[in-house]
Amino acid sequence: MLETLNPQPQDKILQLIAMYRDDPRTTKIDLGVGVYKDATGLTPVMRAVKTAEKMLWETETTKTYTGLAGEPAYNAAMVSMILGEGYADRAASVATPGGTGAIRQALELIQLANPKATVWLSNPTWPNHPSIIKYLGMPMAEYRYFDAATRGIDFAGLMDGLGKVRAGDAVLLHGCCHNPTGANLSMDQWRQVVALLAKIGAVPFVDLAYQGFGDGLEEDAEATRLVAASFPEVLIAASCSKNFGIYRERTGVLIALTQPDRKAVVQGNLNFLNRQNYSFPPDHGARLVTMILQDDALRADWKSELEEVRLNMLSLRQSLADALRRATNSDRFDFVATHRGMFSRLGLSEAQVNVLREQHGIYMVGDSRINIAGLNARTVPILAAAIASVAG
Ligand code: LMR
Repeated sequence: MLETLNPQPQDKILQLIAMYRDDPRTTKIDLGVGVYKDATGLTPVMRAVKTAEKMLWETETTKTYTGLAGEPAYNAAMVSMILGEGYADRAASVATPGGTGAIRQALELIQLANPKATVWLSNPTWPNHPSIIKYLGMPMAEYRYFDAATRGIDFAGLMDGLGKVRAGDAVLLHGCCHNPTGANLSMDQWRQVVALLAKIGAVPFVDLAYQGFGDGLEEDAEATRLVAASFPEVLIAASCSKNFGIYRERTGVLIALTQPDRKAVVQGNLNFLNRQNYSFPPDHGARLVTMILQDDALRADWKSELEEVRLNMLSLRQSLADALRRATNSDRFDFVATHRGMFSRLGLSEAQVNVLREQHGIYMVGDSRINIAGLNARTVPILAAAIASVAG
């Protein structure tokens, strides 16, 4: 049987991890996968996570199964962190293995509810979005998003694309810190998008993987909150990988907002999907997140460390934009300072990206997406000089 299998296409981001690992040059620089690194190149375990793990080890009395939807306290804490208060009667939710698990469950929920619904994706988007949708055999379409000339939003193109969405289609929106571009809608633009999609009768599907990495924990939830308040039905796939730094614990949540009288049935369908796919969701990371969010001191410590992480990335953005101004003698790369989140798409060609990798040992995704957090004070000028040498 297995001899019938064909090789699968490689995930470009994961492929880059392997190429970087196998490169023997000690001067190599990894700007590939979206993982936060401090100035020493370490992806640290956050202080509050360490403390919570110690407390958990001391107090945990059982590792029996958790609830099928995860622990209610985790789901409630996540709904409140993302949406604020007032959603208890509308929010069905399940804990999932990471943000990707939440995306997968959301897509399967859409498929169960309306197999004909088209899922609309921004062009570009995280490559795993179309990959999973294709794997599930769901109808898919794209709306314009990025203006390659300005490295900002092509807002007219975006509104034009979203104008083609039909009632009942699902529209995937990056809640903050757009991956891969780093270019984000202003709140005024969000209001226009929401008005258009509400008029059409579309179902927004928000991917929120970087809350706290852009403009702040509350600020990064603002667009998602606007969406939640404006539609009868909303899907939100959120990840704790980045903002809690617990990548390998696989901690995410899928929230499905519905009308109060539909909540029990929607919740039952979410539970069913968890049972079909992996039974019970992983609990360790979710439990740490719950402990942190419920304890005032731990929560304050986590928020202040998250803020340090965010400000570090902002300052790296500013120094890279300054260094590129000097190295290229132009303002072409000023957008790096205004982008938000971990990523910026630089707008280099694939050939230029290849030269940077082969000749300079600088690894970025083929579409010229860089992970800002992969930089430090030493490597910023090296990157700026290398970019100037390929892009003049
Ligand atoms: C990324 O885009 O680099 C991250 O979301 C990690 C991943 O799984 O691709």
